[in-house]
Amino acid sequence: MPIKRAPELQPISREHHRALLVAHRIVHVLEGRAFAGPAVGFPELLDEMSEFHESHFLPHAREEETRLGPGLNALGPDGAAEFDRLRSEHASLERLMDGACDQDRPDDERRNALRTYGQLLETHVRYEERELFQMIEERFAPELLADIGAALAEYEAGRDPSCRMA
Ligand SMILES: [Fe+2]
Ligand SMILES: [Fe+2]
Repeated sequence: MPIKRAPELQPISREHHRALLVAHRIVHVLEGRAFAGPAVGFPELLDEMSEFHESHFLPHAREEETRLGPGLNALGPDGAAEFDRLRSEHASLERLMDGACDQDRPDDERRNALRTYGQLLETHVRYEERELFQMIEERFAPELLADIGAALAEYEAGRDPSCRMA
């Protein structure tokens, strides 16, 4: 991320690079263009993206909610509102991927669900980097930030390195 990030939050920030690439790849490939890999058909793209969703996105989202949620709620109503937004965007991304994978739905709906997933993934990552993490850096107590940093470092150590690679 171009924004200077607190070292405590960098483990999850590093995974955002890959998420942005994935987001752009979805939109490009659905338009028949190559981006960060070959232009493939919808079934292949969906396989790739549902694997990303299960192995990369879901554990990342769970970690954000577990580590950042209590501190956000403790900030008061404005922090709690940001935690609500975080969770609700994660839930929307899950619903969209479920929709894209639902073989009972018509093809164009499934493609639209995957396209919207890509668009929301990009918006969501930018929101976290530009608004949510800024708030955390400015308002969380240094001791809390240090605890979060230790937990996130442990999380990162257990992750597949491809979660943060381009
Ligand atoms: Fe997130
Ligand atoms: Fe994130």
